[in-house]
Amino acid sequence: MPEIPHSLSSVGCDGVSFETIAQREDTPLYVYSAAQIRDRYKKLDQAFGDNPHSIHYALKANSTLGIARLIRRLGGRVDANSGGEIEVARRAGFRPSDIVFTGVGKSRGELELAVGLGVRAINAESRGEIERLDEISSALGVRARVAVRINPDVAAGSHPHVSTGERSHKFGVPIDEARKICLWAAGRNALDLVGVHVHIGSQLVTLDPVEHAAELAADVAVGLARDGVVLEHIDVGGGLGISYDGSATVTVGAYAETIVQAVSRAGLPVVIEPGRWIIGPAGVLVARVVDVKPQGPDRYFVVIDAGMSELLRPALYGAFHRIELPNPRATAPVPCDVVGPICETSDVFGTGRVMPLPEVGDLVVIRDAGAYGSAMASNYNRHPLPPEVLVDDGKPVVIRRRQSIDDMLALET
Ligand code: LLP
Repeated sequence: MPEIPHSLSSVGCDGVSFETIAQREDTPLYVYSAAQIRDRYKKLDQAFGDNPHSIHYALKANSTLGIARLIRRLGGRVDANSGGEIEVARRAGFRPSDIVFTGVGKSRGELELAVGLGVRAINAESRGEIERLDEISSALGVRARVAVRINPDVAAGSHPHVSTGERSHKFGVPIDEARKICLWAAGRNALDLVGVHVHIGSQLVTLDPVEHAAELAADVAVGLARDGVVLEHIDVGGGLGISYDGSATVTVGAYAETIVQAVSRAGLPVVIEPGRWIIGPAGVLVARVVDVKPQGPDRYFVVIDAGMSELLRPALYGAFHRIELPNPRATAPVPCDVVGPICETSDVFGTGRVMPLPEVGDLVVIRDAGAYGSAMASNYNRHPLPPEVLVDDGKPVVIRRRQSIDDMLALET
């Protein structure tokens, strides 16, 4: 499959330089390429070809309204993980039938919201949750559309913090009880069992576990059909990984083929819940150097104005992100530790990165920050949330302004 034209470079996005955007909006800030998001969405959609499928973009990766609306205009649907994400989906114009609702530990209020709206599927995580859904639906005099999340006991081979498909992980119902629980759910008065769901983790870069988990879900669906319970879909979750270091990784074509093959025995439409693959490479975090200091005779700290409050991934998972200088100095490259301003030693974006030593005021671009970047940002150390700019057709549009100190304190007495 052809490579996606990368409309984000180390100097700018879609013909607009990061320097121009940074001068207008100040740093730190997130910049996204609308062209990249469109290209990636379409490429994923095309990879499934004529096989019946729907793309439910995982809002948790990035649910800024401007991004959610762009996904809707592309024909996408959403995977929401909380009442808050359901509300965002509604405000972005998604219909209830566009929403699947996933998540361990849904509160009573969240279940009532989803049942009341009549979302496409509530991916139930336990017997208890299925009982609560039945009760709530009866009380409201409606039927809820439910899918059962299966824990397939498959190791995803991803970072332990984002692997979700093993028996010891809190997600779903055990594979060996899945069919029984599905049959029982299908027999509840106020529930329609519409699917089975499986999601084994995020940043998946090998396909064997994906194949195995999807096959197990399909087997459950086949067994249910034999028992007379015919489902509407198999939801294989999200998780397709991206390359953070620029090296080759699993292709979207191979991913789609694996899933289509694995579920073919069930003959049912497939639902996917991709987040990172669509939005990750389409966004960068732009920051400025605020200090440079020697760490030893030939190594430096480069301190930037973004930290773990703006992009938590390196501190939380030891995640690697490429760090680039839009305007590198004409000096010999030296090893640099690129760090943030937060009072934690883990507030590090990269160690031993060899680059021409920047000077205070220079721009630094952290790549592949579109997913789980702004979505996981916090006010730690009282950093205001950074603005987000979507560049579309050469025009930068602020889709979230920078939080002010007054915004930050508005809830406090
Ligand atoms: N569906 C379910 C049920 C999920 O739990 C997730 C992600 C997704 C879909 C989307 O997965 P994706 O396609 O984006 O891999 N904060 C971590 C990632 C946590 C993922 C949580 N669940 C990170 O920054 O790597």
